[in-house]
Amino acid sequence: MSFNLRNRSLLDLQDLDPRDVRYLLDLAFELKRAKAAGNEVPRLEGKNIALVFEKASTRTRCAFEVAVHDQGGHVTFIDPQSSQMGHKESIRDTGRVLGRMFDGIEYRGFHQSVVQELARSSHVPVWNGLTDESHPTQVLADLMTMQEFGERPLHDMAFCYLGDARFNMGCSLLVGGTLMGMDVRIASPVALQPPAALVAQMRELARSTGANITLEPDAHKAVHMADFIYTDVWVSMGEPEAVWKERIAELMPYQVNTALMQASGMPRTRFMHCLPAMHNQDTELGREVFKKYGLTEVEVTDKVFESDASIVFTQAENRLHTIKAILVATLA
Ligand code: CP
Ligand code: NVA
Repeated sequence: MSFNLRNRSLLDLQDLDPRDVRYLLDLAFELKRAKAAGNEVPRLEGKNIALVFEKASTRTRCAFEVAVHDQGGHVTFIDPQSSQMGHKESIRDTGRVLGRMFDGIEYRGFHQSVVQELARSSHVPVWNGLTDESHPTQVLADLMTMQEFGERPLHDMAFCYLGDARFNMGCSLLVGGTLMGMDVRIASPVALQPPAALVAQMRELARSTGANITLEPDAHKAVHMADFIYTDVWVSMGEPEAVWKERIAELMPYQVNTALMQASGMPRTRFMHCLPAMHNQDTELGREVFKKYGLTEVEVTDKVFESDASIVFTQAENRLHTIKAILVATLA
């Protein structure tokens, strides 16, 4: 029963209420089981989906492509290099064109206002595949993963997000955790906390969902009794290279290492990351950061990333099942 999601866009998690999230998570688990059992029912036959990416992606693009394929639909990938979008044609005009051809549009880019404009101009469901301000499909996968690994219901569990909390992941995790009534801790320097207006809005929402929101600059205090410790890259896509030096200085106390994992005081605290992660020297960027700043690992140590506590690849897989749930709920 997708009571009120049909034909709706998902531009931000605030578009959803707790019942919507619960419904999407249940549907995602059902779709995950059906795929594993080989008895998935295709519900997107005849549907054409546009995937618009103004920033790079591995997981989000692949999850959308595989989800649509599994469900019997078709995708078209569009980026600024191979289309008119951005340089020769405005988002508004692009939206008006895509809306005449496609049943739904995924968009990844910079400002939230762009994904809003696309939804307004296309008149078809638009799903936010990441903007600077939010990453709603990621957080649905994160909640699914917490539910999968957690020993108690979501509203009885705590997670701590550490790092740059004013960008997409910090903001969307704050919203997602609040919607589900969780114990939400944000550990970052004051300058990198989520915008005050969003925090105020979430504190208000928490009065009805039962969530507990803590902004705690002391990383070791913040993770005490946390079921999940979550981090993200310290410099996000679209940010200038010049911010690295300052960011490393600000965020080094928030690196997820063995001592921080132990500071939870719980033997079964799990480590989460939306990925990609800078945990070793196996990437060009990793080697560059080492050359310039002498860091061999950044937001998480390789030891934690590779440990039994790390559930990052199930998180990545769950992008598929949750994105599929969104597509089925809004289009089928
Ligand atoms: N987590 C995530 O959005 O990954 P991609 O950038 O690879 O899509
Ligand atoms: N904060 C990161 C998330 C990547 C999934 C970025 O925007 O680059």
